[in-house]
Amino acid sequence: MGKMLRVGALISGGGSNLKAIIDAGAAGRINAQIVLVGSDNPNAGGLKRAQKHDIPVFVVDYKSLIHQFNLNPDSLSLPVDIDLEQIIKKQNLFGSQTDSNKIRKFFLTHIAAEYKLLEKIRRYNLDLLVLAGFMRNLTPYFIDQFNSNRNEPRIMNIHPALLPSFPGIDGYGDTYRYGCKVGGCTVHFIDYGEDSGPIIAQKAFNIEESDSLESIREKGLKLEWEIYPECIQLFAEGRIKVIHMTHTRSGGHTYQRSVVKISH
Ligand code: GRF
Repeated sequence: MGKMLRVGALISGGGSNLKAIIDAGAAGRINAQIVLVGSDNPNAGGLKRAQKHDIPVFVVDYKSLIHQFNLNPDSLSLPVDIDLEQIIKKQNLFGSQTDSNKIRKFFLTHIAAEYKLLEKIRRYNLDLLVLAGFMRNLTPYFIDQFNSNRNEPRIMNIHPALLPSFPGIDGYGDTYRYGCKVGGCTVHFIDYGEDSGPIIAQKAFNIEESDSLESIREKGLKLEWEIYPECIQLFAEGRIKVIHMTHTRSGGHTYQRSVVKISH
């Protein structure tokens, strides 16, 4: 196996995906190791999992940053070189109807948090960053700073649904409540939207009449723990390529979509 891939992880919760990746590396099933774990949540259970494996951890407490902003908007330390309007123009997290003050507050607080994230991860020379139950959306500021080359994304996320169905915070719940007969999970690269980046891999499971939300979540998580290490290994082997396609719908409407091709 070639050079071991240096992977950073961002989490917000229990970190079962983090555990699956750590274990896959330790067992030699993937040529990658988690070298740093960060969280927005000081109480994230996954931080303890990392510490058990002597992996350095850090916290950037988004909640207290947002509270600080509410008390005094000028108190946040922001990167000097940002063009806030440009960043807001690039993003696809909020629609044009969203209140501009809400958008401005979101980006100021999240860029301030991301400025700290970048400060923490900079010296770890990460090859790849995986979001493993990280409940914060990243802005174009962080994404462009971390992805040295826009055409070679290096931030992955795992989502608890078969995207593009059911983006957002409760994929398995949305799948269950919709009455779907098949559920699943998706690993994708992060782009400027929410759960909208190029899909790397998906795994699906059948939903039986006897299934409950809990059993669906269990089926999904078991597949997540397989698919995430597999995608990291594809990245480690340099087999993931992102290509930009231009499509024309019937009626002549053309649009761009970046897709992943896996080479053999
Ligand atoms: C997983 O279901 C994942 O798909 C979603 O958040 C959950 C995280 O679980 N992003 P864990 O913290 O990895 O156990």
